[in-house]
Amino acid sequence: MYDGNKIITGLIIFACLVTFPFLYNFGKANAKPDPKLDTPVIQQMKEKRCIETKEFMRANHMQLLDEWREAVRDGKRVYVNSSGESYKISLQNTCLKCHSNTKEFCDECHDYMSVKIYCWDCHIRVKS
Ligand code: HEC
Ligand code: HEC
Ligand code: HEC
Repeated sequence: MYDGNKIITGLIIFACLVTFPFLYNFGKANAKPDPKLDTPVIQQMKEKRCIETKEFMRANHMQLLDEWREAVRDGKRVYVNSSGESYKISLQNTCLKCHSNTKEFCDECHDYMSVKIYCWDCHIRVKS
């Protein structure tokens, strides 16, 4: 007589052993970028918010930075966000004051997406 339960249990264990290394590596290869927010300035913030919503920033920071460069050329130095708060238009003194960990923040996403930015040729990147 066959013991059906034992055979099925054996098959399940076998399937797990065979697929585990594959699933394990698969998860790693797809590991999402994890931009770090643990900078001294952000740690001090009561409400951890960017200058616009996280969703907006994630999707639009490139355009926003472009607008900022444009604005400074036109002599504008103040950005008013969607909640009416004012920020100085500056990559180094605004963005990088909070995101001083450019390697663990900006590069974390850019490297993952193979995006190269040339901004650091001129703008000083704070060492982290
Ligand atoms: C006052 C501090 C502060 C300033 C200034 C600031 N940020 Fe942020 N930023 C944050 C915080 C805090 C978060 C996380 C927000 C959240 O989780 O809701 C964030 C989130 C982001 C994100 C989304 C990250 C993600 O995981 O999706 C991007 C992109 C970003 N910031 C870029 C910028 C850029 C570019 C500038 C300048 C134009 C800037 N930030 C200015 C504090 C700041
Ligand atoms: C949540 C992930 C994420 C974070 C954090 C992030 N970026 Fe980006 N960034 C992207 C992606 C994705 C693109 C490419 C978008 C595209 O090609 O449309 C991009 C594009 C850019 C571009 C335009 C590059 C080009 O040639 O078009 C600039 C400039 C830029 N990021 C600056 C920054 C700076 C400065 C920081 C840190 C303060 C930062 N980003 C943080 C995801 C991120
Ligand atoms: C060839 C050198 C150079 C490169 C490359 C460069 N910038 Fe600039 N950027 C400048 C100069 C010079 C100013 C004017 C500084 C001022 O008037 O305060 C400026 C001003 C700015 C400003 C507004 C003022 C400030 O203090 O931040 C922003 C925002 C900015 N750049 C973002 C960027 C971004 C984003 C990139 C990459 C996509 C970039 N820049 C690449 C030279 C450069």
